[in-house]
Amino acid sequence: MTAATAALVQPVTLVGLPLTSQFVMAPMTRERSPGGIPTAQNAAYYRRRAEHGIGLIITEGVLVDHPSAGHQTDVPRLTEGAAEAGWKQVTSEVHAAGGRIAAQLWHLGSRREPVDGYASWTPATMTGRDFDTLLSAYAESARVAVRAGFDAVEVHAAHGYLLDEFLWPVTNPTLAHRDFPAEVVRAIRAEIPSCMPLIVRFSQFKERDYSARIAETPAELATVLEGLRAAGADVLHASQRRFWEPIFDGSHLNLAGWAKHLTGLPSITVGSIGLTRDFASSARMAELLDRRARGEYDLIGLGRVLLGNPAWVTLAAAGRHADMNDYYKTDEERYF
Ligand SMILES: Cc1cc2nc3c(=O)[nH]c(=O)nc-3n(C[C@H](O)[C@H](O)[C@H](O)COP(=O)(O)O)c2cc1C
Repeated sequence: MTAATAALVQPVTLVGLPLTSQFVMAPMTRERSPGGIPTAQNAAYYRRRAEHGIGLIITEGVLVDHPSAGHQTDVPRLTEGAAEAGWKQVTSEVHAAGGRIAAQLWHLGSRREPVDGYASWTPATMTGRDFDTLLSAYAESARVAVRAGFDAVEVHAAHGYLLDEFLWPVTNPTLAHRDFPAEVVRAIRAEIPSCMPLIVRFSQFKERDYSARIAETPAELATVLEGLRAAGADVLHASQRRFWEPIFDGSHLNLAGWAKHLTGLPSITVGSIGLTRDFASSARMAELLDRRARGEYDLIGLGRVLLGNPAWVTLAAAGRHADMNDYYKTDEERYF
């Protein structure tokens, strides 16, 4: 184990929440919760990652408490039927393994198919009452997340889904209600203990447009992030496709670097970490750790690598690179 890698599996504290390492499992929709209810298989899947060096798990997107939030029946809910009990099982298994877990609250916005008698909601179609309804839906979901034993809540405001549609000029040309994501943060903050981390995930890119941007300049990004911070966000999760890519001309900082620099809040970086077996011994890995050591960001998110390598962190820390698997798209079909 190199000294730098060993340092990564030391305990850290995230706004008061003790974590066993700086590694975060990034949220990944898995569509394996029949009827929206998490199962024992889901609990085992998350527990396995907690057992192997992931300090904080962020769940797959969990649909908020409104029929407009999403249409897929195997995507988990929180507030319906036995969903709360299912999540209780997940959180207690993660805790038994020494891990911590945040619920990612998700509303698809215009990406949702119109079913259940509800059309999809977009910034252009929502009226005053709709805003109140949704604020209540997020608040209720956060209340249930606390009851179900989650250690933190993450608001999904990235990738072109509902909250990001308010931030992006293409889906919100007049930028009306651009502070709605911050309103959601405020509504959630009011429901959860003041010491519980409230994470906001945001991105420049959209699933349907990788070159999209919510901010052309650091000043524009500062305005958005400052609104979220003032509303009660205390961790920023900067979603990026490749962590090493700069965001604005004239600086090497990535999105998480800018988020921390502009707000002073702790940030999570993510993006194409560990996708090939040689990554852990590569210059990119050294760069990832070096940037963290310099304080550009605090936590390191792993997504796809954890699908086929639940033990990636402990293997990396032990220098067991030969025991790692390269990532293949087909890993997304695996679930263990
Ligand atoms: C199968 C799959 C499902 C995903 N689902 C979500 C999701 O529910 N919420 C979210 O914010 N991001 C989601 N993402 C994006 C990941 O959190 C992560 O940002 C992305 O995979 C890049 O990290 P990586 O290169 O380490 O995989 C998903 C990614 C994958 C591959």
